[in-house]
Amino acid sequence: MTSLKITPLHPSLGAEIDGVDLSGPIDGPTRQALSRALADHLALVFRAQALTPGQYLAAASAFGPPMEQHYSQHNMPDFPLIGLIWHRHGQQPAEQWHTDHTNRERPPAATILYGVEIPPAGGGTSVANMREAYRALSADERRRLDGLTTFNSLDSGRADTRPEDRDKYGAPIQHPMVRTHPVHGSRAVYFHISKATHIGGMTPEASRAYMADLLDRMIRPEIVYHHAWRKGDVLVIDDRATMHRAHGDYDRRQSRILWRIIVEGDRPRLV
Ligand SMILES: [Fe+2]
Repeated sequence: MTSLKITPLHPSLGAEIDGVDLSGPIDGPTRQALSRALADHLALVFRAQALTPGQYLAAASAFGPPMEQHYSQHNMPDFPLIGLIWHRHGQQPAEQWHTDHTNRERPPAATILYGVEIPPAGGGTSVANMREAYRALSADERRRLDGLTTFNSLDSGRADTRPEDRDKYGAPIQHPMVRTHPVHGSRAVYFHISKATHIGGMTPEASRAYMADLLDRMIRPEIVYHHAWRKGDVLVIDDRATMHRAHGDYDRRQSRILWRIIVEGDRPRLV
């Protein structure tokens, strides 16, 4: 087994992993150690990687089988399991706190980002620990959230969504607002404010207002790791117990290109 060195990056979440070259094969024990590190630290950073698309896909599979992304117009033509995040390709930075692809019955376990071109300033990615966010709520509010579910679809108001993606991924999917982590066993708050059409038993307007209020109250600097990108970084985010957001505070004349892979996860459940 490769000897992993795990260095925490923030008191609440995030760890840098040394001793793994993602361009080569990753043995079984190392895969297990990485999965455990992800469940514990929720965001893993690998520095100075140099990966071809094929090597990147092979490395990502250490965290689960890569799965299709639903805005297929942004996928790499020869490697459709890799999505391109690139403003010159039409994507807006996702600046709202969210977790990915909640409109899937089995949403991704992890989102993996590889920094291919990085602007000299700004353009970071923040990740919030929703396990700690859950713990910090009052017992009454935890009880209330434990009983709520969201109904999820594709984001409304995106003009460039392909009809075939809408057919495949537009059907409403119900998820608990609190989910138990399948590896860690802890609970975390789980929702996507713009993919949730509503919370069960609430109007869309009241649902949105409640989710926005929750985000305001829950996401404090104490539970956020901010990743300032360096070219060659690979950032792995545990989608089962975090939310993340992009920062659009960079010069659009500069290039910022991230390659995104999402890997299969379990159906969210509260136990
Ligand atoms: Fe995202």
